[in-house]
Amino acid sequence: MLVYLNGRLVEKANAAVSVDDRGFLFGDGVYEVIRVCDGRPFEAGAHLERLATGLAALEIPGLAPGELPGLLDVALELVQRNELARGDATIYLQVTRGAAPRTHAFPPASTPPTIYIATAPLTRPHALHEHGAVAITTPDVRWARCDIKSVNLLPNVLAKQQAVQAGAAEAIFVRDGAITDAASSNVFAVIDDELRTPPLTNYLLPGVTRRVVLDLAAELGLAVREQPIFVRDLPRAAELFVTATTVDVLPVRQLDGRAVGAGVLGPVTRRLQAAFAERLAGAVRAGAA
Ligand code: PDD
Repeated sequence: MLVYLNGRLVEKANAAVSVDDRGFLFGDGVYEVIRVCDGRPFEAGAHLERLATGLAALEIPGLAPGELPGLLDVALELVQRNELARGDATIYLQVTRGAAPRTHAFPPASTPPTIYIATAPLTRPHALHEHGAVAITTPDVRWARCDIKSVNLLPNVLAKQQAVQAGAAEAIFVRDGAITDAASSNVFAVIDDELRTPPLTNYLLPGVTRRVVLDLAAELGLAVREQPIFVRDLPRAAELFVTATTVDVLPVRQLDGRAVGAGVLGPVTRRLQAAFAERLAGAVRAGAA
C-alpha cells in the first residue's frame, strides 16, 4: 500500500512523521475524506473547498488553494497504484502545521506543512442501509468551531466509542437540547412530513453529503427545512438518517433504545438513498466520459 507524504510516494510501512509534528503534539491540522467510486472522485471540488476554508481558518501557511487540485491528482494516482480503481474507496488527505519545537503559538511561517494522503477500500454497510442502524444521543462537548474539519477529534472518538459500547453505529451530538451533528456524520429527520436538518452554524460540520442530500431533496420536490431538530421533537420523527462520505444515506431505526417511526426504512429515506446512488453513478459516468 503506497501513501503520499510530503512530496513523495512511499510504502505505508515506511512512511514516518516527525515526533515534533504539530498534528501529533496538538492535533493542529485539518483533513478530508473523499469518496471514490470506480476510480472517480465524488464531489471533489466541495471537499477541496472545505479543506481550503479549514487551512485559512487555522492560518496554516505553505499550501495555497491553487495547489489542492494537484494533491487530488496525486490521490487519484494512489487509487490506481493501490488497485482501488474498481468499486468503492476513500481518499484520506491530512495537512498539519508541520514539525517544529513544541510551543503553543505558531512556528515560523516558513515551517512546511505536513501533507499526507492515503487510500483505503470502502466497505459500505449494506445490511444497515437496508434495515437501519442503531444510534444513541450524547452531550456535545466539542469546541465552538465544529465547522472546521480539524484532526482534533477526541470528543468524536469518545462519542463513537460510547456508541460502540452501547451496540450502536453512531452517536448523535446534542447541544442545548438540539441536535448538532454526529460523531462522524450529519443528521436528518422527517418530522411533521418535512425533511429537516440542523442549519449550518459553527457547531456542526458542513457535510458534503449533507449538501448533496439537500439538493436531491429539492429536486425530488420534498418539503425541506434547515431548521433545528430539538430532542423534544424526536418522538415525532417518522424517519431519521445520517449522512457522510463513508456511509452515504444511512437510516437510523432505533435511537436511545426507542424505535424511530415505524422502525423500518421509511419512504423519504428510501427515495433519497436511490437518488443518491443515481447521482453517484452519474458522476462516475461523467468522469469516465
Ligand atoms: N466524517 N460531521 C462530522 C463530525 C464528520 O466527521 C463528518 C464526516 C460529517 C459528514 O461530512 P461529509 O458528508 O463531508 O463526509 C459530519 C468523515 C467521513 C470522517 O471523519 O471519517
